[in-house]
Amino acid sequence: MSSNALKESPKTNAKVADLITPNWRQHAKSIQKYGTVVKDLPIGLDASARQEIVGRLNLLLADTITLRDLYKKSHWQVGGPTFYQLHLLFDKHAGEQSELVDELAERIQMLGGVSIAMAHDVAANTRIERVPIDREEVPVQISRLLDAHHLILKDARDLAEKADDLGDVGTNDLIASSVVRTNEMQVWFVSEHLVEMPLVFAR
Ligand SMILES: [Fe+2]
Repeated sequence: MSSNALKESPKTNAKVADLITPNWRQHAKSIQKYGTVVKDLPIGLDASARQEIVGRLNLLLADTITLRDLYKKSHWQVGGPTFYQLHLLFDKHAGEQSELVDELAERIQMLGGVSIAMAHDVAANTRIERVPIDREEVPVQISRLLDAHHLILKDARDLAEKADDLGDVGTNDLIASSVVRTNEMQVWFVSEHLVEMPLVFAR
């Protein structure tokens, strides 16, 4: 029983159950170390295969969280004649990346692993180059986004094959159907903004 579950009655000095004070300020040892997987799960995948896939998924998760945040930064800091469309497009992509983040993190937990979650752990694990805190021009913003997509797509294709080799068809499906397709679609929409195209007079 926690320390504030019993309180002294002011009238009788007897210890009485306190039913309304929340039992907060609780601390205990963690229940699972990062980098480990649950030994035995009834999902037909052995621990060594799950261990390998979880390690790869956590890196992809860190990169995906970073790309989502890069889209939000771009959404807030974009400027110029294409402000309105890019402001909306960047936010749409941030939302879609956020859904991927949730799917990847939950896949890691399903496989008995521990998913990366917090910003400091994301920063320590992402392979995407650190972006300056300053505001940048639109072509630079877009180039950074495309570099991040490129890194993620190359890694995702490799991970999909690895998952297939290990019999993890669930991860293979998640990567191919969600991660690869979403990132490819976003690359198309974003990269067209770096194509020189006459607005009024044809060349
Ligand atoms: Fe917004």
